[in-house]
Amino acid sequence: MVRPTFAHIDLDAVRANFRAVVAHVAGGVRSPDVIAVVKANGYGHGAVEVARALEGAGARMLACADIEEGVELRRSGIEAPILVFGALSVSDLDGVFAYRLTPTISSPFAARALKDAARRRGTRLVCHLKIDTGMNRLGFRYDNLSQTVPEVLAGPGLEIDAVYTHFATAEDRLHPLFDIQRTRFDEALRRLAALGLRPRLRHAANSAALLRDRACWYEAVRPGLLLYGVIGAVPYLGSPLVTPYPVAFFLWIVWVVGLIVAIRRLVHWPWAASITAGAALLFWVLFVQAGSLIFGWTA
Ligand SMILES: Cc1ncc(COP(=O)(O)O)c(C=O)c1O
Repeated sequence: MVRPTFAHIDLDAVRANFRAVVAHVAGGVRSPDVIAVVKANGYGHGAVEVARALEGAGARMLACADIEEGVELRRSGIEAPILVFGALSVSDLDGVFAYRLTPTISSPFAARALKDAARRRGTRLVCHLKIDTGMNRLGFRYDNLSQTVPEVLAGPGLEIDAVYTHFATAEDRLHPLFDIQRTRFDEALRRLAALGLRPRLRHAANSAALLRDRACWYEAVRPGLLLYGVIGAVPYLGSPLVTPYPVAFFLWIVWVVGLIVAIRRLVHWPWAASITAGAALLFWVLFVQAGSLIFGWTA
């Protein structure tokens, strides 16, 4: 007998997480768009329900893994543009056209297939171009774009609306590859500009990257885990995404006062309170400093 098992998904929490990310990246001259990742059945939460909730919360683009996932979202009534991350099954591209999906072009072969399919249908396909800067999974290698990309850009059929890359190690604060990938992506964008490609959007940041470094926000960010409440690195009480500053400060005061009372009860020593307060302040400063050094916590 199969035991009845339930997973209760709080769609209000998903919406709140999306809005928190939007608020986190807001400000500046132009706030980046938030491309909400609902791949792998919405990280197991139910792609259709999650996508509806996110669209309702204002998501202007969703992203899924393959054409089949995109088709399912469209059939369920999702109207927002849907970016397909994965490699395309080039023998069966109908879904891209029939369901208005935005494919990723990650190889010259895929570009050729999409261009031919678009030409046959007498249409122009909006797509995103992926650059492999070190993930070694999908995309045009960052260092030989002048050999591979001219063919993609030649002729009608494809409109490259965005260029993106994916970080392999953003959640690992001590790994050097993150900065290397960012430098390579900027280099790649310069090379593409020299080839005449200036995309409307550039995007790179998954959840860990967008928390880590605002330099990689560009014109759009692509959180997945954050939408489902996974923060990854040790949550930092001072980070506005985790705890708003006034709340963090209040918690700290409560903690210090509690400590002073406890120590004064245990130790009948007149200097106990001020030493405790000093130690608590020192701990707080070290905590914040160490946090930003080791984990790159942003305040
Ligand atoms: C290309 C791409 N961008 C963004 C994401 C979202 O990543 P995360 O869940 O770490 O935010 C994924 C997820 O695997 C991805 O494949």
